[in-house]
Amino acid sequence: MTYQWPVALALHQLGTLIWIGGMLFAHLVLRPAANARLAPPERLPLMLAVFDRFFPLVWVAIVLLWGSGLWVFLALAGAKMGWHVHAMMGLAALMTVIFSFIWFVPYRVLGRAVAQADWPAAGARLALIRRLIATNLTLGLVTALFGAAGPTLSAALSQG
Ligand code: HEM
Repeated sequence: MTYQWPVALALHQLGTLIWIGGMLFAHLVLRPAANARLAPPERLPLMLAVFDRFFPLVWVAIVLLWGSGLWVFLALAGAKMGWHVHAMMGLAALMTVIFSFIWFVPYRVLGRAVAQADWPAAGARLALIRRLIATNLTLGLVTALFGAAGPTLSAALSQG
């Protein structure tokens, strides 16, 4: 049905905005501002509180992106789409694995270290989370580029 495609892409867009926009704000805006203004005993609990609110939203975004993406790819397009969609799926899978690792490993340790006021341990976990978020942000921007420019690029390349 014709309305399904735009509804799926609107949900897809929402997932992109939540995940990529949230990482961009956390990494490029909030983190440097907190580093410049706050000492570790204030900064580390603040960053943990930010993750406590942002990470559950990332799970919502992951469900939205995979649900709507597979809806379009499998149900509406019969699994016949350009290379850009396959690239998007591959990059999204990598991003999902990286985020799952953040969620299950360093985020948990950060929570425990902050609860015990162990600032060196918390700082080390935050540094790892920062690197992994920077990786996912880069992958996410490339993935969004494939999604946005992919259809026209695929068509242009297939025409030679
Ligand atoms: C981080 C993950 C992802 C990001 C940032 C992303 C981003 C995008 C963007 C920006 C678009 C353009 C349409 C729009 O504005 O919504 C798009 C289209 C699309 N995405 Fe994704 N996507 C991701 C994951 C996935 C996954 C897991 C699938 C699963 C199959 C998928 C399938 C599709 C399909 C089928 C389209 C339509 C392409 C076309 O019209 O040719 N995406 N995506």
